[in-house]
Amino acid sequence: MIYNNNSGEKMKKITDLNLEEKKVIVRVDYNVPMKDGTVTDDNRIKESLETINYLIKKNCKIILLSHLGKVKTKEDLEKNTLMPVKKVLEKLLNKDIIFSKELKGKELEEKIKLLKSGEILLLENTRYMDYPDKLESNCDKELSKYWASLADVFIMDAFGSAHRAHTSTVGIAKYIPSAAGFLVIKEIEKLNEIKTEDKTLLLGGAKVSDKIGVIKNLINTANYVIIGGAMCGTFLKIKGYNVGQTFVDNEKDEYIKDLVNNYEHKIILPVDVMTENGEKSINEINDDETIYDIGTETIKIFNEYLSSAKLVLTNGTMGLYEDQKYEKGTKYTLKCLHDNDIKTIVCGGDTASAVKKFGYNFYYISTGGGASLEYLSGEKLPGLEVLGE
Ligand code: 3PG
Repeated sequence: MIYNNNSGEKMKKITDLNLEEKKVIVRVDYNVPMKDGTVTDDNRIKESLETINYLIKKNCKIILLSHLGKVKTKEDLEKNTLMPVKKVLEKLLNKDIIFSKELKGKELEEKIKLLKSGEILLLENTRYMDYPDKLESNCDKELSKYWASLADVFIMDAFGSAHRAHTSTVGIAKYIPSAAGFLVIKEIEKLNEIKTEDKTLLLGGAKVSDKIGVIKNLINTANYVIIGGAMCGTFLKIKGYNVGQTFVDNEKDEYIKDLVNNYEHKIILPVDVMTENGEKSINEINDDETIYDIGTETIKIFNEYLSSAKLVLTNGTMGLYEDQKYEKGTKYTLKCLHDNDIKTIVCGGDTASAVKKFGYNFYYISTGGGASLEYLSGEKLPGLEVLGE
């Protein structure tokens, strides 16, 4: 048994169920980055293999469900097919995968009927049911019952989508025995380490409001919260600095003010930054300039804190790392964590891409973006709550 720590309730896990020869519907998160119809990062697919291989060994008939992108228009229906994912999965498993374009109806039911033990059927993007009636995203009762009727058991292994109360993440679980898959279990175990262990947070990226919940929940137990990236603009502005054209997120103004006043000793902000006109001290930024990265002195200071940390959670990059001119902050803070062998948990797609780009390897790379942040904020994730006993 593991605990769904945000509600304190026990959650069923895959090994608690008798799965031998069962028809199992698995919600995976194959919402992966794509370019020109090709998967550019297969981490989420790789991370789903443990559950799939376990089910193959148990002689299950496996039905996989996932969303991909948002489906709001007819064009989205063409753009967001899971066919490229099927190819990657076949390669990784060295096995043919059966594909169903239908998410409902006779043809799908026939395919399931013909499914043999150990075979895998991947259904098309669940959000195709969103056009035009939002049947997936609105957790439609009839569709929940229908998908549940296709299998004996439901396994939730889409940690990255556990913050969505959709038909395929929550609805099905209401009608058949359900449990968490190995990926979900691993995510919870790793993210719980951040909650319980001695830690430092390294936060960046643009949106402050996404991260405020995490800071709020962890600031008392964190040693330091180091803030770079575009989000430092909001903090510097509140401290009275001119941040020029840098995006400022006003949504949680009052809370940030309190944070900056009450936890000044823990919140570490840049002393210099990179703008389009080069490196500047934070009191030299002009009205027409934008912060694109942290500066040299700041990298040094941040790295001093990071090199003595026991555990680091990093979410969001220190700058516009895709552009070589502004990659230093992200590159050298990650290098510091790597070179000093700091136990580091990486959250969020951009941060994971930066880690990949610079070729580092860390203790854990979470498959969750928004879901990880919500979990670390202490919020209840509907996709996990529904697995409570
Ligand atoms: C993600 O990538 O964060 C998850 O797959 C959820 O996707 P969504 O934000 O489109 O619901």
